[in-house]
Amino acid sequence: EQQGPSYTDIRIGVIGGTGLYSLDGLKVLCEANVETPWGKPSGPITIAETERGNKIAFLARHGPLHDKLPSEVNYRANIAALKSLGVQAILAFSAVGSLLEDIRPGDFVLIDQIIDRTKGVRADSFFTGTGVTAHASFGEPVSAGLRELVFKHRDSVSQITIHKNGTGVCMEGPAFSTRAESNLYRSWGASVINMTCIPESKLAREAEITYAIVCMSTDYDAWRESEQPVTVAEVMNTMKGNAANAKTLLLSVLPDLEHAVYTDPEMGLTKPEAGSMQYAFQ
Ligand code: ADE
Repeated sequence: EQQGPSYTDIRIGVIGGTGLYSLDGLKVLCEANVETPWGKPSGPITIAETERGNKIAFLARHGPLHDKLPSEVNYRANIAALKSLGVQAILAFSAVGSLLEDIRPGDFVLIDQIIDRTKGVRADSFFTGTGVTAHASFGEPVSAGLRELVFKHRDSVSQITIHKNGTGVCMEGPAFSTRAESNLYRSWGASVINMTCIPESKLAREAEITYAIVCMSTDYDAWRESEQPVTVAEVMNTMKGNAANAKTLLLSVLPDLEHAVYTDPEMGLTKPEAGSMQYAFQ
């Protein structure tokens, strides 16, 4: 049940991570309080209008006041709420630790692979308890087309490097990793680490929503011998600059993304790999 004006053809969703709690440069139309069969999303969804007259939906993953730990976020409600508004493509943002020297704090990484190190405590499927046995393909967890589209706009934030690919580890948290764990993930070939891209990306796939995540590096995690392991203060400090860059990048990407979702159906939707999710959203 949605309160306030009813908007149903909002094809672009943006999920903000730590440090990114609102959007600038867009006209805010309303705050939608959406209920889903999986409960309430992390907070109201901001419906905003672009310069071209299209609407986008913005949701702060940890809530507008950041009161939800990564393990406490209702990922199913977040994805289901965006789906119910009509969202076909989600561009998510997330603060991450860097596992590679070359990915400096402040840099962005468009990860193309994910290693799941969450501990099984997160509700991670829309099919659980439905009696429907379905298996989404997840070999390529992130949309290559959407990553490509974002990468094209890397010059909008020329003072940082946007890395075109990488492997993200998603850990449970809330405590950061030990040095030994951090080194283990490096030995696995991982590039960055966060606490939220699982199950968010997996649920987007089940919901047949095109998904990519911009990983915003805030720290070198715990692996670097020459440095103290990561602290919250370090993450928050780098996040301020990252949030400004994220907003600039998003405004640059939006015209192409709008073109893709409103005029190019191939780009707008992943193939229906998960079987049909439609019935769950009727
Ligand atoms: N988010 C930001 N920095 C992180 C780190 N080092 N580990 C896990 N999640 C993070």
